[in-house]
Amino acid sequence: MSATQQTTAVPMVRWPQMGEARVPFQIYTDKEIYQLEQERVFRGEAWHFVALELELPNPGDYKTNHIGDTPVIVARDPQGVVKVFVNRCAHRGSMLCIDNRGNKKDFTCIYHNWVYDFDGKLQSVAFKRGVRGQGGLPEDFDMAKHGLRKLRVETINGLVFASFSETVAPLRDWLGPRMTAHIERIFNRPVKIIGAYVQYLHNNWKLYVENVKDAYHASLLHTFFTTFGLNRLTMDGALELSDSGGHHISWSKMASDEAKGSEYQGDSLRAMNKDFDLSDYGLLKVWPEYEDGVTNAIQGIFPTFIVQQVQNALAVRLVVPKGVDETELQWILFGYEDDTPEQQRMRLMQSNLVGPAGLVSMEDGAVGNFVQRSIQQDGDREAVLEMGGRTVESQKSRVSEASVRGFWKAYRGLMSL
Ligand code: FES
Ligand SMILES: [Fe+2]
Repeated sequence: MSATQQTTAVPMVRWPQMGEARVPFQIYTDKEIYQLEQERVFRGEAWHFVALELELPNPGDYKTNHIGDTPVIVARDPQGVVKVFVNRCAHRGSMLCIDNRGNKKDFTCIYHNWVYDFDGKLQSVAFKRGVRGQGGLPEDFDMAKHGLRKLRVETINGLVFASFSETVAPLRDWLGPRMTAHIERIFNRPVKIIGAYVQYLHNNWKLYVENVKDAYHASLLHTFFTTFGLNRLTMDGALELSDSGGHHISWSKMASDEAKGSEYQGDSLRAMNKDFDLSDYGLLKVWPEYEDGVTNAIQGIFPTFIVQQVQNALAVRLVVPKGVDETELQWILFGYEDDTPEQQRMRLMQSNLVGPAGLVSMEDGAVGNFVQRSIQQDGDREAVLEMGGRTVESQKSRVSEASVRGFWKAYRGLMSL
């Protein structure tokens, strides 16, 4: 492909012949690819997490969010049904809801006061008939044709998903039985939000998604995980992929690491630091969260949603692209309604492991930018993804990049790359 062809309106990435075992660096830096993702991934054949139902307890409650870089309103209508609209007035395009959340009787645009109901229907137009017989809208202006853009909405155990697509399979079918079962495992009873924050990542959104799907890095990059034995590749665990490859679960059981993994005893692992200690081991006090004995489980739902169990620190995360090399990462930490005050305190304590300054997650916020900074040039060079082979399939070993390859398989399918 010539340089001139690369600057034409239709973005072209020549995917390497080795398929998902290689990723061209251009995919993280190209503005045209970013635009095509908005159309084919975020507005295409996929479901996108937008809210927890419990964020909207009452009729009229709403929150704003994004699907890709399209702003949306998630609202509970007077009948209690959750609706999702593009957050854009049908008149001249102003954002309708400016605040992050609130409660409304209707949606009134601040610019010229056009008013919409909870079905997105245009209810009234200021000065519709003009003033003193002058001005106003033409007689044949059809209010029914100027509503808000409404999205498909489905919920699963209190998680609200929306889609621009009329043809994508119903949510549970799209997730598949294994992914559905894992969501039902975590959201098995009423949950309670115990914290929320947003962090900014100075890298392309896909670099963070890859990081989440990459079980290989966890005990190598994260000194805390390895040093204090929270997550090692010697533990019993697995990497499970959906048929599409796009969704995954990486899980492990801390109790199964009795041998303390001889692979971790040498001095060559940077993350294993015998000089580090804790003055208070309260942070590592955990209790068995679920009957299956799994202590760490990260679930990635294509393209940008994550369900996290790190010991008793539970959270959902949403990755929101903010341009080709800027990303917002939303976190909602939760426990259960029936937690004791002590359990809630311990969850909050353990949540110091995650988040922008988390003892573990801190490095994830930095490493994407290390990649972004070094790949600005040489877009035709490639990342190598051969840990655990070159295929996209579930594996017993987490010394594998199979779930990262799975993401690229689903991504390439939607992007037609
Ligand atoms: S842009 Fe909303 S009323 Fe004009
Ligand atoms: Fe990580």
